[in-house]
Amino acid sequence: MGEVTCPGDKSISQRVLMIGSLLNTDIKITGFLNGEDPISTANALNNIGSSISIEDTSVTIKKRVVPFMSSNEIVDLGNSGTGMRLMMGLVSGLGLDATLVGDDSLSKRPMLRVANPLNKMGASVSCDQGMPPVKISPGQIINDFLYEMPIASAQIKSSIILAGLAANKKVSVIEKSPTRDHTERMIKYFEGNIESKRHNSGNIITYNPSELSSKSSYQVVGDFSSAAFIIVAGLIAKDSKILIKNVGMNPSRSGLIQVLKSMGAKIAIENHSTICNEEVADILVESSELKGVEVMGNIIPNIIDEIPVLSIAASFAKGTTLIKDAAELRVKESDRLAAISDGLLKIKIDHELFDDGIKINGSDKDIDDLVEIDSHGDHRIAMSFLIASLRSKNGIYVKDCKNIFTSFPTFLSIMNKLGLSINEQT
Ligand code: S3P
Repeated sequence: MGEVTCPGDKSISQRVLMIGSLLNTDIKITGFLNGEDPISTANALNNIGSSISIEDTSVTIKKRVVPFMSSNEIVDLGNSGTGMRLMMGLVSGLGLDATLVGDDSLSKRPMLRVANPLNKMGASVSCDQGMPPVKISPGQIINDFLYEMPIASAQIKSSIILAGLAANKKVSVIEKSPTRDHTERMIKYFEGNIESKRHNSGNIITYNPSELSSKSSYQVVGDFSSAAFIIVAGLIAKDSKILIKNVGMNPSRSGLIQVLKSMGAKIAIENHSTICNEEVADILVESSELKGVEVMGNIIPNIIDEIPVLSIAASFAKGTTLIKDAAELRVKESDRLAAISDGLLKIKIDHELFDDGIKINGSDKDIDDLVEIDSHGDHRIAMSFLIASLRSKNGIYVKDCKNIFTSFPTFLSIMNKLGLSINEQT
């Protein structure tokens, strides 16, 4: 049996840098994801006066000797949508000037979804044709702002909450479908006054100005989205059994387990505990005969980052898998629906692409030819098709994998330890 430890959660690592900086106390973070996205968020925060230093998976945030300050430099968030969108809220709430930029992929991603509500809230945020660079100037955040999100997005929700937190103003956000609630859990962990109530099919979250407690440590749990690649690898490989330790099991993130179980996956959850208000467990996964499933509606925001690798599981399942209501995939690090379809075409998996989803007819045959897949510069597309190589006779070549380092820097070593044979070519 293979045994691996899940690397730190990207969403939580980025949030604890921001909320930890606001606490303004010496704080030690362990289990941090030392990946490019959290690193660019740390650099962005240091640009506005935080004092963050990273050593491997440990981070120290020092109490600031000076107040937060406007940045004269361009603040570069690299590939990170979470970094940029959450910083938009934080910088607005602090009433600072900053210009946020990103790499080619981030420069094409929609920012008005965050800029518009922040401006309604009293911030001053502008962007170029709705995309980065994002220019933030000091505004006047109002009290008791209420925003109903037209799309289910944890980044929009978190950005607005962080603006309220940083400006010390009451704020409420309504989400139609539940989205990941790490921001709410972390504020609660630091004893801030935030509550979430059911509202129609989603939630209404209200933050009330409150003094956060200055705890001196925070432990980041493992990233369910990274574990998802190992889980699907374990399911589609022949004769495999893998124990993945330290996997974040926040119910707003781990819906893929339910989906895979309904496909017939042999998955056992063991050793439950709660760390820093986040649930965590070990996952035991075994090779399984999967069958197709229909996935749509409210579960989609929960599994949004796992749909690329779910598509790989579906490709080797018996029957048809239908994924709908997932148009958000079109505006991720790549157009993920198009990128999945492009890859499936290469590995000869029959499928039909829709505006908001994909239908995949699974195959029990292994992939014959040595194929070349374009990752479209997207970490999750790259990792998904590297996992698909488990069912290929002659290997799969995935182009442009460098962005794997944004979210899962140890992917290659972990997968190779488990018996996959991934070679890097430069
Ligand atoms: C994230 C929220 C999701 C997710 C992203 C991380 C977060 O994005 O896809 O990888 O950390 O809040 P949306 O809020 O755009 O759905």
